[in-house]
Amino acid sequence: MTAIPASMRYIEITVPGGPEVLRVATGPVPRPGNGEVLVRTVAAGLNRADLLQRQGFYPPPPGASPIPGMELSGHIAELGPGTTSRWKVGDAVCALLGGGGYAEFCVVPEGQCMVVPAGVSVRDAAALPEAVITVWANLLEPRRLFPGDLFMVQGGSSGIGTTAIQLARAFGARVATTAGSDEKCGVCLSLGAELAVNYRTRDWEAELVRWSEPHGIDAILDMVGGDYFPRHIHLLATGGRLVHIATPHGNQVMVDLRAVMMKRLLITGSTLRSRSVKEKSSLARSVEQEVWPLFANGQLRPVIDRIFPLEQAAEAHRWMEMGNHTGKIVLQVL
Ligand SMILES: NC(=O)c1ccc[n+]([C@@H]2O[C@H](COP(=O)([O-])OP(=O)(O)OC[C@H]3O[C@@H](n4cnc5c(N)ncnc54)[C@H](OP(=O)(O)O)[C@@H]3O)[C@@H](O)[C@H]2O)c1
Repeated sequence: MTAIPASMRYIEITVPGGPEVLRVATGPVPRPGNGEVLVRTVAAGLNRADLLQRQGFYPPPPGASPIPGMELSGHIAELGPGTTSRWKVGDAVCALLGGGGYAEFCVVPEGQCMVVPAGVSVRDAAALPEAVITVWANLLEPRRLFPGDLFMVQGGSSGIGTTAIQLARAFGARVATTAGSDEKCGVCLSLGAELAVNYRTRDWEAELVRWSEPHGIDAILDMVGGDYFPRHIHLLATGGRLVHIATPHGNQVMVDLRAVMMKRLLITGSTLRSRSVKEKSSLARSVEQEVWPLFANGQLRPVIDRIFPLEQAAEAHRWMEMGNHTGKIVLQVL
């Protein structure tokens, strides 16, 4: 293992604004604190929240690095004081972060590191932590999806959507989804969705009613909110579950409580970044145990749209803003 240098390259948000505010900077390599490890980054995954952070709308949680980047893959470069014997220098890992992934080195609580799943390259593993843990934490760990369920995920071609389609199929659900072009719908079908509706050209609600009648949909993972909310309430079956993870169409909605009672609905949601290190570490352990084997047996694969070098972080953000991607966008650091 090569020595740790004194300084590293990273991406700085110079001022809140458009992609052009992202600049390559040089600064000291961070030192791992108690229970933390230092990771030499191979690649970092892009997330929509990174765009909001760059615009100044989504500050990192207290104590997190101001450098953007909520997930990475790489090799353990140094163990901080008080770490367990789980990791040794040189181990390949992928990790969920509070921030700091767009950098050559990053400090991570050791519990938030995961082994790289068998059959996945170290680079491609950077695309996994945020999407897999989000889907796991919202649908599977709290048991909101069951074998045989009719499941719908909005935005099936997103990083989250491509993961949710594959995971729901692997856990025995039937899957329908929406996407913004016929090409993206084709990718969703190839990942195991039975139905993929182009929401820009078709009446997705009517198609979902036809697909799920007379039973209705058992579980919906939503990243739209606003005007989609009453349509989801309409589509859900008795005992249905509606899980929110993003609200670009608005977070204030009118709830028909009578429909909630009559159908005995569960309406919930969560955010991952704000959870404690303990919670994130616990989710990471369950994912290693329950989800990683699905990569080895071919039921799950990373869906990566494009890989940009670290110094082209601004282009990568522009590419995500254009919305033509399918799956994840990754920054290659090493
Ligand atoms: N709560 C949490 O813990 C958590 C964790 C991770 C991510 N998220 C959120 O989950 C969302 C997906 O994340 P990502 O990183 O995978 O982002 P992404 O790849 O940019 O995906 C955004 C998706 O939203 C879809 N979309 C936009 N408007 C839509 C509409 N009217 N109907 C249906 N779909 C629509 C887009 O579809 P088209 O491109 O096909 O138009 C796209 O697939 C983001 O909003 C992100 O912030 C939340």
